[in-house]
Amino acid sequence: MKQLDVCLTPELLHLHNLSNSIVVVADIFRATSCMVTGLAYGVKSITPVATLEECRLLQERGYIGAAERNAQKEEGFQLDNSPFSYMAESLIGSDIAMTTTNGTLSITKAKPTAVKVLVGSFLNLGALANYLKSEVYDVTVLCAGWKGRPNLEDTLFAGALADALQDQFMLLEDGTLMAQRLYSQSKNNLLASVANSSHVRRLQRLGIQKDISYCLQTDLYDIVPVLRGGKLIAMH
Ligand code: MLT
Repeated sequence: MKQLDVCLTPELLHLHNLSNSIVVVADIFRATSCMVTGLAYGVKSITPVATLEECRLLQERGYIGAAERNAQKEEGFQLDNSPFSYMAESLIGSDIAMTTTNGTLSITKAKPTAVKVLVGSFLNLGALANYLKSEVYDVTVLCAGWKGRPNLEDTLFAGALADALQDQFMLLEDGTLMAQRLYSQSKNNLLASVANSSHVRRLQRLGIQKDISYCLQTDLYDIVPVLRGGKLIAMH
């Protein structure tokens, strides 16, 4: 039977053997929710990069540059890190280069050793679960967390995915069980369960309120973003 494992922060990724594993990267607030939204709204590709310099170079080469640090847009870039910005009609068919504090960094960390890297959020939870059921590989959910620390929202997502896949995957590790049990306790009111969490407080301090409830909606989009040749595209 296939196994589903949860890595609670990228700092622990070296403890996970990814050689038979599809990695699902989750940064619920807000990088992976942005990626899913953009691709669902018709963005052609999103190239995740770790540094501002790489993103700037790609912007100079004609990509739309999206850059965030500490939940704020970086000066000199075209796009911020709100999922609502990724719904713009002007982005349909575009190639975006994106760097964020934790989300894109996690993707670049998983890329060298994973069988495949997918992007997950509550917004595409069902589509992702269906796809993973059809695959032969194990699954590792990589929670992006915040600067090396775990966070509630990514752990809740990992628990939701574990819940959806438990019939077909073994959930053996305590990190996975922790995530699943947290989700079971919280699933009837995800918004209340993240109240007072560190990134929710950070976003609220910046007046970013509506992104929080948007990113906690389940199954808005039927797409699975996959990393191919360094670009995230919607798998069809
Ligand atoms: C990140 O990658 O750390 C986040 O997406 C931060 C944010 O909310 O902008």
